[in-house]
Amino acid sequence: MSILINNEDKTYTLLTKNTMYQMKVDETGVLEHTYYGAKMEYMDMHYAVDCIMGTSFSPNPADYPKNKWAYSYNQINQEISMAGIGDFRLTSVGVRNTDGSFGAEPRFVSARTEKGKYSLKGLPAFYGEDADTLVVTLKDKVYDIYFHLYYGVFEEYDLITRSLVIENKTNDSIKLEKALTLTLDMPNGTYDMIYFHGRHTRERMLERTRIKHSQISVSSMRGASSHMENPFVVVCDKNANEEYGSAWGIGLVYSGNFLISAEKNLQEKTIVVAGINPENFNFEVASNDEFVCPEVAMVYSNEGFGKMSNSYHKAIRNNLTRGKYKNAVRPVLINNWEGTYFDFNADKLVAMAHEAKKMGVELFVMDDGWFGKRDNDFCALGDWVPNENKLQGTLSNLAKRINDEGMKFGIWFEPECISEDSDLYRAHPDYALAMKSRAPQVSRNQYVLDYSRKDVVDNIYNQLVKVLDSANISYVKWDFNRHITDLYSVALPAEKQGEVYHRYMLGLYDLLERITSKYPDILFESCSGGGGRFDMGMLYYMPQVWTSDNSDAIDRLKIQYGTSFAYPVSTMGAHVSVCPNHQNARITPLKTRGNVAYFGTYGLELDVTKMTEDEKQEIARQIKEFKSYYELIQRGDYYRLISPFTPEESLYCAWETVKEDGSEALVCAVRYETDASTAAEYVKLKGLCPNKLYRINGSKETYLGSALMNVGMFLEYDFITYPSRLYHITLA
Ligand code: DGJ
Repeated sequence: MSILINNEDKTYTLLTKNTMYQMKVDETGVLEHTYYGAKMEYMDMHYAVDCIMGTSFSPNPADYPKNKWAYSYNQINQEISMAGIGDFRLTSVGVRNTDGSFGAEPRFVSARTEKGKYSLKGLPAFYGEDADTLVVTLKDKVYDIYFHLYYGVFEEYDLITRSLVIENKTNDSIKLEKALTLTLDMPNGTYDMIYFHGRHTRERMLERTRIKHSQISVSSMRGASSHMENPFVVVCDKNANEEYGSAWGIGLVYSGNFLISAEKNLQEKTIVVAGINPENFNFEVASNDEFVCPEVAMVYSNEGFGKMSNSYHKAIRNNLTRGKYKNAVRPVLINNWEGTYFDFNADKLVAMAHEAKKMGVELFVMDDGWFGKRDNDFCALGDWVPNENKLQGTLSNLAKRINDEGMKFGIWFEPECISEDSDLYRAHPDYALAMKSRAPQVSRNQYVLDYSRKDVVDNIYNQLVKVLDSANISYVKWDFNRHITDLYSVALPAEKQGEVYHRYMLGLYDLLERITSKYPDILFESCSGGGGRFDMGMLYYMPQVWTSDNSDAIDRLKIQYGTSFAYPVSTMGAHVSVCPNHQNARITPLKTRGNVAYFGTYGLELDVTKMTEDEKQEIARQIKEFKSYYELIQRGDYYRLISPFTPEESLYCAWETVKEDGSEALVCAVRYETDASTAAEYVKLKGLCPNKLYRINGSKETYLGSALMNVGMFLEYDFITYPSRLYHITLA
């Protein structure tokens, strides 16, 4: 058991292979957070957080130990920091009681362990029979409001998950005005935060900043985790890098509005909170009901970011993604979007499939434009009825024609949105989120469906089922092309409108659960205008995500590099598209486009019927090569070797995947800047066996693992723009 309960010290210690997390019940019954960091022999870590030095203007709770004037909620490292009761630092939970008072003082009641990982009602969460669960129950000093803290311990991956269930056992309803999942007091030190900002076609750009005395936050109020921020951050030592220093990954298993905030407080200590964004949020919890906060997934590494990422990659692959495809070899697909946009018919698609098949492509995906009268993005969302004129027959017939070409058939949906010009909107205008008093805003000419309503979700479910049952469909791309505005549900009374954002997510997760479990043989890919909802929540339902609408190989270096901090290569949708690139007009070698897409799910997104013979041969070669490295790429240990965010240090970006035993590796290096009189560049490899000899791409020369790791491998240089190379490292 990876959970240690010490009744004498009243400590609760979670232990993974390399990490330790500890809480302690203090003399007044407050659950204090005492430690999260490197594993060590058991000791009561309370000394590290004891309120020894007081700060003025830090009030004492009514029952504070009278010999300890420094004892204040404003100083204690509480496992749940509560608003309204004298903690003026970052807080995570705010309870409005029936009498209108605001605040709660959770005190320890009990703790229990469970074999296996807890699950969360209606919400995505890591799972695993081998994991352990600790549930610590606290209760408000005054009211019958219970706070159940859930911890999941995944020893092998150094992953600790956490959730909070707030249960109202009073006779009236209470209101949560804030319900973040995580409060985390960091050990003493000076920390940086790394976060991943962006925008459409430029997702997950890495930025690093010092956590000082002002609050820094990453957040979304867009109703989706968004392209602009990602619900994942790394809090790290100010000197930490890929292989050195302490790094705490903090990720939310949630796809809606979120907030992750950090500050250095008056005690010069860093505190982090994470969870649902409290803006425009409040949630009524009826008597004898409960509220479940989304899960937070944390990994600590004392060997820098590389090790932290590797732990997330393994945990996400094995204990978050589900279904038949999570570890299966996924088909190489071609998507027609950039090849045709809306301008296609069945003959065109079949012709594309015919050519693609010859190159080795296995799955044909028909993107947007196959339903209703959708020849542009002004209409038809919500009318999931195949356009049989465009498809020159039934959907089933088209699927059969594609299957007859020897390929599987996939299809695109945008189930959460509705066009004003649609039969669904004409019949049910109230299905769209809109405030009573003002006309709703359009974005990409569409509205968002009110998924807080079960009847709306059911309507879409039934429509999806009808389509999916009507043809031989092996793949679904689930898109979401705008963010939520005009938040108002006609189904809820005025005082419950603050619940709509979260209820929307619950409706979406419910639909995803129903559809993905009804169609276990379908491969689902999540998408939101590219990578606008690349988060652990969506990965629970769909094992891959379209990483970005930008498939330019050079821009993708940063996008995929940033994404890799939390998310494994196997989840990153990556396609080869045409040049000049449709997003930035850049021209790159086809080989480089392929090499970059290898470190993702590799597919095509172009009109193959317009390719030259040479290009077709190159794609056929790539598919063969990609498949030969499939296992190594998708399941190896992934290392970031040279960052594309530091052009002052190197003109290359390089990453590597290594078999766990160090016996084989594949390195991809792309030169993304040009320079005359170029200097020789070497890249230091990782994960090899130091004392073993290796060959590079079958070279006659052999190289000691430690030489390749400490001195590096010479990066060959082709005299073209944006050259790239793959280096296959094998034991000699
Ligand atoms: C946005 C997606 O990211 C694209 O790949 C494509 O599916 C379009 N939507 C279709 O509208």
